[in-house]
Amino acid sequence: MRGATRGGVPAAVPNERLGLVIAVPAVRASQVDPMIILRRVTPDPLIRDVSDTARWMAVYRARETERPDAVFRDPFARALAGERGERIAQALTFGDQEAWPFLARTHLFDRFVAKQVKQGADLVVNLAAGLDTRPYRMDLPASLRWVEVDLPDILDYKEEILADARPVCALERVRLDLSNADARRGLFDRLGRSARHVLVLSEGLVIYLMPQEVGALALDLATPASFDHWVVDISSPGLVEMLKKRTGDVMNQAGAPFLFAPAEGPPFFTAYGWIPAEVRSIIKAAASLERLPFMLRIFSMFPESSGAQGSRPWSAVCLLGRTG
Ligand SMILES: C[S@@+](CC[C@H](N)C(=O)[O-])C[C@H]1O[C@@H](n2cnc3c(N)ncnc32)[C@H](O)[C@@H]1O
Repeated sequence: MRGATRGGVPAAVPNERLGLVIAVPAVRASQVDPMIILRRVTPDPLIRDVSDTARWMAVYRARETERPDAVFRDPFARALAGERGERIAQALTFGDQEAWPFLARTHLFDRFVAKQVKQGADLVVNLAAGLDTRPYRMDLPASLRWVEVDLPDILDYKEEILADARPVCALERVRLDLSNADARRGLFDRLGRSARHVLVLSEGLVIYLMPQEVGALALDLATPASFDHWVVDISSPGLVEMLKKRTGDVMNQAGAPFLFAPAEGPPFFTAYGWIPAEVRSIIKAAASLERLPFMLRIFSMFPESSGAQGSRPWSAVCLLGRTG
């Protein structure tokens, strides 16, 4: 797009990369005042920030819920995803054929939550909870405490939509930037002292962090003695490369590039106080739910592996326990 010319100089020079229009007065070039007015005119980007990925994820839960053979039902997901969530999911071309990793991941997290709660977890801390609604949709004891942590805007939005809904257990929301190490340590300390068996969840978070950030977070999570399990999903370097190609520049422009893909696989966490107790591959879970596209079924037949994955596309949900 070119700017219109008026009086010998362009009236407006759009710069699409920067999202700015440089507006100059309609005068001859020799008279141009050095003062130029900058006006931000970017059309709303598809993914505005990392929190919009929560809307994107909610779409897959909504689509799953709408299937007659749904593996889980999230009655709030459609409203929470909203029009923007659907637009993101459609633009990133992860169509219905490609919903399987998301629904299998959610299913695996649900299974780990149910099992750990049954085995005595009295507090679940869901880091980067986004628009997750497990405290409303899962069968959980009323005595369970559940803490959701995420950035303020997405939790405000969520609270507005869920205003009339009632969680089945005791729910607290904490607006916190997890990259603020002091703030998160303070939170973990408070929560750690208030419970005996804490289960931490981080679904769809660590892929957006640098390896050293994941390591630092892991160390902080290992500090309170009562934090005894952590469920986290990870992807192999091969898968992250594939995702980068599929999503193009959209994630980088949103400030949410895919970053974390440990070459060593789940043992990455061992140096930071966490040992893989159970590793469940997402493709295998999707195959057992009979949701894997025909062409991919062969890949689900490889033996389960909890170590380095080389260049093969692979992702898993891992239950970590403490090393010490
Ligand atoms: C892909 S979404 C996952 C949301 C949810 N766990 C799910 O599975 O639907 C990533 C989430 O991470 C949150 N997030 C990213 N960086 C964060 C940070 N520094 N502090 C808190 N939350 C963060 C985003 O706001 C967003 O809700």
